[in-house]
Amino acid sequence: MAQPAADRLSIGYFFPAGQTNHVWSDEAARRTPRLNRDNLLELATTAEEVGFDSLFIADNWSGHQRAAELAGHQSPAFHAPLLAMGIFAVTQRIGVISTFHTTHHKPAHVARMGATLDAFSSGRWGWNVVTGFSDAEAALFGEEFVEHDERYAMAAEFVDVVQRLWAEHEPIDHDGRYYRAKGRIKAPRPASTPRPRLVSAGASEAGTAFAATWCDELVTLAKDEDALRSVGDRLGALTAGNGRDVSVTPFAIALVRDGEGEAEEEYARLLESLNPQAAWEIAGDILGSIETARAMFDKLGEDKAVRALGSGEAMLQLVGTPEQVAERLIRLTGDIGTRNILINFPLWSPAELRGFSAVLDLLAEAGVWTRPDADAKPW
Ligand SMILES: Cc1cc2nc3c(=O)[nH]c(=O)nc-3n(C[C@H](O)[C@H](O)[C@H](O)COP(=O)(O)O)c2cc1C
Repeated sequence: MAQPAADRLSIGYFFPAGQTNHVWSDEAARRTPRLNRDNLLELATTAEEVGFDSLFIADNWSGHQRAAELAGHQSPAFHAPLLAMGIFAVTQRIGVISTFHTTHHKPAHVARMGATLDAFSSGRWGWNVVTGFSDAEAALFGEEFVEHDERYAMAAEFVDVVQRLWAEHEPIDHDGRYYRAKGRIKAPRPASTPRPRLVSAGASEAGTAFAATWCDELVTLAKDEDALRSVGDRLGALTAGNGRDVSVTPFAIALVRDGEGEAEEEYARLLESLNPQAAWEIAGDILGSIETARAMFDKLGEDKAVRALGSGEAMLQLVGTPEQVAERLIRLTGDIGTRNILINFPLWSPAELRGFSAVLDLLAEAGVWTRPDADAKPW
């Protein structure tokens, strides 16, 4: 398979994990396609056609989000590995990163499911490793909610066991602090070598240390270049010690329109119907342990913070004309060496994705991104 250039930007598409994504606007919920098989598959094939390198499917199990659910915010969300399998069946090239929790599963479950996803897709699967952040999820599994840093300690042992189950053909005999696993998984083993791509999104000290040791990419909520630099510096200090190459992936929100000021106007219109109850519920769920969200609450106070969390303010904003958005992305690659970006579209229809082609063309012209070949590896 052709390898992408090492300095080429890899562009990920944040697949809808609900009728709306990170901008909890009732208008956005009304205007986005219904979340059903045909629409989701059309979206995935369009993303591949347009040229996105990969898709990212977030997932969690529970939440107390009744108002959010009723309005379609962050809901309904198809279970990520199952949706990934459906997408692999109708696409040829695009990578699909899907979420598995470490906290509530056993390593053999994820080793077996991940191997199936990666082998079935001929090496197009990646794992978004999450530890879970809500006590509601733990309760659903009949478990006590494990403390933040200990969840990362569990995740480290979990990933280690999964990797051994992927790699070793002889039975393993693991008797660790949190997990026991004796034996081997049956074939298939992952097609990716040395293993499928591992991504995480925890920016706390423990989360960054976890990414530095185990992952290829750290997706990060950072609204500007300074914030991205500071995550990059913290990660860089850790990887300088272990020699690993882990990239920082900005999580961005994109709204692109041809006319000057049109995208900003559209965005402002969406925010007029921001659903405060939904934003409050979702914020409440994640406040338990997401440090960046908690810091925002401390800094802004409750009302402003709910609004900021519900309106995508915490993310890198790619709102403007194709030229403006392309220019920002080109600057990111030049100034802070961004190699991966994950883009969320608040109005995520196939037409919205096609509208992003103009940005991709400009990036290609500038030489920072190349249209993936039919046989290119997704990362
Ligand atoms: C882009 C992005 C995607 C995420 N996807 C998920 C997800 O699918 N499931 C989940 O439980 N947590 C998800 N998270 C939360 C992270 O895994 C992590 O729990 C959170 O960022 C807090 O990490 P920290 O405590 O190390 O700061 C995501 C976070 C970000 C920024």
